[in-house]
Amino acid sequence: MQPLCQTLKSSLVALLLMAAVFLLAGPVQAQTLAELSPSEIVAKRQQVFEAIEKTFKQLRFNVVNQRTTDLQQAQSDAQRLVQLSNFLPVLFTQPATAAGRVQESHAAPEVWTESTHFKRELNEFLDRMGRIDEELRFGSLNQAADMIDVTAKSCRQCHRLFKTR
Ligand code: HEC
Repeated sequence: MQPLCQTLKSSLVALLLMAAVFLLAGPVQAQTLAELSPSEIVAKRQQVFEAIEKTFKQLRFNVVNQRTTDLQQAQSDAQRLVQLSNFLPVLFTQPATAAGRVQESHAAPEVWTESTHFKRELNEFLDRMGRIDEELRFGSLNQAADMIDVTAKSCRQCHRLFKTR
């Protein structure tokens, strides 16, 4: 039998690899985040948000509107949302001066000037994604649906405060 810590270690490595592959996927081929230019980071950020929106809409429709019986699909969407959301903190580390110069960004300056507030919103968002994932893994569709509704409100709330358009 494989020792537990060995199994944990290899799944952790797999997870990190997946994360790296995702960050490097797409038109930007770079070794690390540090090598991306400010506008490439903005593009990545928007790409991640767009993927979140697409998956979140699908999950919301299936779980909240349809009360799906396809728990497996919902679980895999929720898992993907956790993975995608976890990329966000590092993609918002760009300092205000550099970020301000990126025309394509829809991030409001408050992301950096009120960074404590922004980080709190973002952390709550990550927590909620985790909760949705957890509820679905336990098969608690109603609780997952409630958490999805709360999360949908938090998208709008954060955009109102921290997105320019
Ligand atoms: C913690 C704050 C926060 C939360 C929560 C949040 N967003 Fe955003 N979102 C932003 C910011 C800031 C940007 C602008 C990024 C940029 O352009 O640099 C953005 C950009 C986007 C974009 C890219 C297109 C555009 O208009 O700029 C989409 C799509 C999006 N968000 C969807 C969502 C959805 C869907 C949710 C909820 C499931 C969500 N966001 C939750 C802050 C947030």
